[in-house]
Amino acid sequence: IALKRSYRTKAPKSSQRSYIFQPQASYKVAILGAAGGIGQPLALLIKMSPLVSALNLYDIANVKGVAADISHCNTPSQVSDFTGESELANCLEDVDVVVIPAGVPRKPGMTRDDLFNINANIVKTLVEAVADNCPDAFIHIISNPVNSTVPIAAEVLKQKGVYDPKKLFGVTTLDVVRANTFVAQKKNLKLIDVDVPVVGGHAGITILPLLSKTKPSVTFTDEEVEELTVRIQNAGTEVVEAKAGAGSATLSMAYAAARFVESSLRALDGDSDVYECSYVQSDLTELPFFASRIKLGRKGVEAVISSELHGLTEYEQKALEALKPELKASIEKGVAFVQKQP
Ligand code: NAI
Repeated sequence: IALKRSYRTKAPKSSQRSYIFQPQASYKVAILGAAGGIGQPLALLIKMSPLVSALNLYDIANVKGVAADISHCNTPSQVSDFTGESELANCLEDVDVVVIPAGVPRKPGMTRDDLFNINANIVKTLVEAVADNCPDAFIHIISNPVNSTVPIAAEVLKQKGVYDPKKLFGVTTLDVVRANTFVAQKKNLKLIDVDVPVVGGHAGITILPLLSKTKPSVTFTDEEVEELTVRIQNAGTEVVEAKAGAGSATLSMAYAAARFVESSLRALDGDSDVYECSYVQSDLTELPFFASRIKLGRKGVEAVISSELHGLTEYEQKALEALKPELKASIEKGVAFVQKQP
């Protein structure tokens, strides 16, 4: 959508010339971890958005070249680079949306939880800076394990006295993107029409696609449900294995994260019809954090949509109960990580 809106195939008439460098809205987006496998293509996709006026790219290294490169695209936003902790505060000044893909990715044989020790500290440090410099921003957490890094971010924000649960999001859009793709392929549907809600969390069995709620309405055999559910849950591992040590999903992840950023910006801009699935603070279940469809508005999460958890199939109901202990443990691990710090 962003590409369609901002890309011009014909030369502009002279009266339109200034439009090319004028964003339709003037939101400021920061990417922390912008020189990485996800960060680079994500920065490029956000540079295409007509809603962005400033794109701040932060990393601990190698971000200057990424920013110089992307800044040559003739789309409206101004690209700036920030390297190392001493420049982090400047990067975050007046930012509306902060996206965090900083941290190490999986290698074959690793679970997302194996990344905890390194990424927990990275997310904690970065969210502390967000709390100090742009506490009103929407915060999109991509760094894994998302099931724990979102509770970590929440605890940090609470300690700083600036936690707004409506503005903290775990990015699970890639699970929805994958579910839509695989279901469309399997059932020969037009991809653009397919919408599968994915609930729970973002690791293994905690990823629960609600195939019975697929739009347009389709029927699946029990075998198809099992096959598709397992494939959606393991799709990240499919990529990790294909990359054979060179990391995890980066390009499809950037696509998914860019979609979530664009949705957030549309909501900030007053669009009253923006829905996405995301891992947020939630009272849909007994767990404090849970991914489900949410309605986005100017102030963040406007509503957590409960209707999709009603009328589940027996398979989905069992899978929902089965994921809860793992998700609960991941949430508690994140909370304990921050609370046990001196
Ligand atoms: P990468 O290693 O290619 O890039 C990570 C970047 O973070 C590097 O440029 C690195 O310099 C930077 N970084 C490290 N410490 C930092 C710090 N303290 N401050 C700022 N930047 C820092 O990794 P990739 O492939 O981009 O993955 C990033 C994260 O995203 C991983 O944790 C991965 O597991 C996660 N991920 C999440 C997905 C999701 O669906 N939510 C899907 C795929 C990956």
